[in-house]
Amino acid sequence: MLIRLVSLAALFGLLFGFDEGVIAGALPLITKTFDISATGEGFMTAAVPLGAVAGAILAAMYADSLGRRKVLILCSFVFAIGAIAAGLASGLEILIGARLMLGLAIGASALAAPMFLAELAPAKYRGAVVSAFQLMITVGILSSYLIDMVLEPLGAWRWMLALGAVPALVSLIGITLSPESPRWLAMNGAREKAIKVIGLVQPDLSKDQVSHVVDEIERTQASAVSEPGWSVFLSENVRPVVIFTIAAFVFQQVSGINAVIYYAPIIMKHAGFDGSSTQLAATVGIGVVNVLMTVVAMFVVDRFGRRPLLILGFIGTALSLVVIAYAMQADKPELAPLALAGLFAYIAFFAVSIGPLPWLYMSELFPLALRSRGMAMASVANWSCNFVVVFSFPVVLAHFGAVATFALFGIFCTLGAIFSWFYAPETKGVSLEEIEMRHSPAAAA
Ligand code: GLC
Repeated sequence: MLIRLVSLAALFGLLFGFDEGVIAGALPLITKTFDISATGEGFMTAAVPLGAVAGAILAAMYADSLGRRKVLILCSFVFAIGAIAAGLASGLEILIGARLMLGLAIGASALAAPMFLAELAPAKYRGAVVSAFQLMITVGILSSYLIDMVLEPLGAWRWMLALGAVPALVSLIGITLSPESPRWLAMNGAREKAIKVIGLVQPDLSKDQVSHVVDEIERTQASAVSEPGWSVFLSENVRPVVIFTIAAFVFQQVSGINAVIYYAPIIMKHAGFDGSSTQLAATVGIGVVNVLMTVVAMFVVDRFGRRPLLILGFIGTALSLVVIAYAMQADKPELAPLALAGLFAYIAFFAVSIGPLPWLYMSELFPLALRSRGMAMASVANWSCNFVVVFSFPVVLAHFGAVATFALFGIFCTLGAIFSWFYAPETKGVSLEEIEMRHSPAAAA
């Protein structure tokens, strides 16, 4: 049962990555079907992160009243309808509308699915569950690149976008048949149901142990009745966490990662690779490195520590960007292989560190009573910066050229390294309770 539910929630990670990545191969074809300016191109592509800003806010507002499961049912619906509408779009406006819907579903499920997962999984698996979600995002990106590569010769951009409806329908069926999160049930007075669900996901527990788990949830809930107001986020103990997690996501996004994820084939073209099949093959290479290095991250993050890994990631991406910027000179196609090597190194450094770490920090640093609101704030920061980068990339590229654009990302990564050096905390081997003591709002009062 637990495995079934974890795979189900992970499916939302896959949908997230798929709908982010699929535009990479579709975009060059879409610009042939519709007449689009650089601004239109940026807006259509960035409609996904823009919708996600709204999705994250809505999920934070409704995950408690509707329940995690209902939010995820709605998300699956929107994912399916958005994908089909995007595939059928008769004009740019409809395509933008469909992508806004997809973004809404991504933003909402990126909050509700990990929440659902964390509340179902026994405590000892919680860390693995957070990383599994990030891994599934990268798997989703890679699968969309592969589909793009297969369908590109047929010019079938509509099918690329519409295929996202398949995993959405699977998740719709799966989540409809799933139980609600036991924590939400217990919080809403459905004690018997909560006991039943915990018995299902942790069959090794005795009856007494199960009711103990539910007692525990009810007790935390009782103490959360006096839940602190928003001003607590500005208190001395909590403020550093708020600033750090928001800044970590800002730097994650201005590193330029999603310019690469959403526009990889166009970047390959600028690098000097001719022919769309070569550009897409190189794009698939980026997807593969992204998945593999995320797996590596899962192994090294507890051994190496978060702080050194984050600093290393920013230094590594900054150096890779210097190589990329150099190799992107317009009249030097012979530098194309160097640009590709730089992009692979960039993705590798990103995926092993800057990609998963802000998500992990976010789930570890906020004290329990503030966690869902803290996560919502951090997600909004993440998606807003994602939007700004993805929207402005084609425009900046058209005005200033590839060398300047990638050099700019390099400067941001250098600032990210300096920022991490001064502010990144180490949470390796520190228990959640200890972290909670450091940043508890009560201690601040
Ligand atoms: C992280 C970022 C996301 C990006 C992904 C790439 O999850 O938050 O924006 O697309 O990594 O793997």
